[in-house]
Amino acid sequence: NDLYILKSGTELALSVAGALHALGATTLNPYPTVAMMRNKIIVTRMLMEAGLPTPETYVASDPNEFRPLLDAGPLILKPYRGSRGAGIRIIRKLNELDDVTRDGLMLAQRYHAPDGPDCKIYCVGGRLFGVRRIWPIQKYEDKLGQPFELSAELRDIALRCGRVFGIDLYGLDTVVSGGRPYVVDVQKFGSYMGVPNAPGVLADYLVTAAKGAMHGELVLGAAS
Ligand SMILES: Nc1ncnc2c1ncn2[C@@H]1O[C@H](COP(=O)(O)OP(=O)(O)O)[C@@H](O)[C@H]1O
Ligand SMILES: [Mg+2]
Repeated sequence: NDLYILKSGTELALSVAGALHALGATTLNPYPTVAMMRNKIIVTRMLMEAGLPTPETYVASDPNEFRPLLDAGPLILKPYRGSRGAGIRIIRKLNELDDVTRDGLMLAQRYHAPDGPDCKIYCVGGRLFGVRRIWPIQKYEDKLGQPFELSAELRDIALRCGRVFGIDLYGLDTVVSGGRPYVVDVQKFGSYMGVPNAPGVLADYLVTAAKGAMHGELVLGAAS
């Protein structure tokens, strides 16, 4: 009754976790959920379906298809399997679409100009931590961000995101624009950067989960 912790997002880690899963092992977060969550099309669709506040989102592999959308305001383009800001472009004018490199499927999302830094929320088994962080980051210190007290609205949004994907260890990026929060990204596990005592909080959770697995109990969020 081992419990395997799937933290890394590399192809190797995912492949090993997938193989373990196929052999009947319990992985945390569950391998099928993590595999699904790498795809921003699936994640966005699930968030919308659950009624979470998500920007209007479109998908195409030819950026020219996004042209008509610019009439209604700026867009942000994201590779559908992207992470850590790779390949993200804010598009305000038609000609800015000309030099977007075609790189498989892209998401175009309505760009909601942020009122301030991102409100990142990190979650560990129902415990929520808010960290304000500027994007894009300029230097290492920016990575740590500023802890902040979560509003009731953001707490509710964060907990609902966890229920949508059925996991306990996750993070989400919310952008507050015109006073309204939008969920723009959900990550499995998350970096927990800037969370006070993150290693201790994670260790407590993992020890409890591992004890549960040892006794053959259903590990929360690891049911697969
Ligand atoms: N629709 C949006 N409107 C405004 N800002 C956004 C939007 N989507 C993303 N951003 C900004 O871009 C950053 C990176 O986008 P994100 O979707 O989190 O990509 P990644 O998976 O690479 O982290 C976010 O942290 C946020 O600051
Ligand atoms: Mg992000």
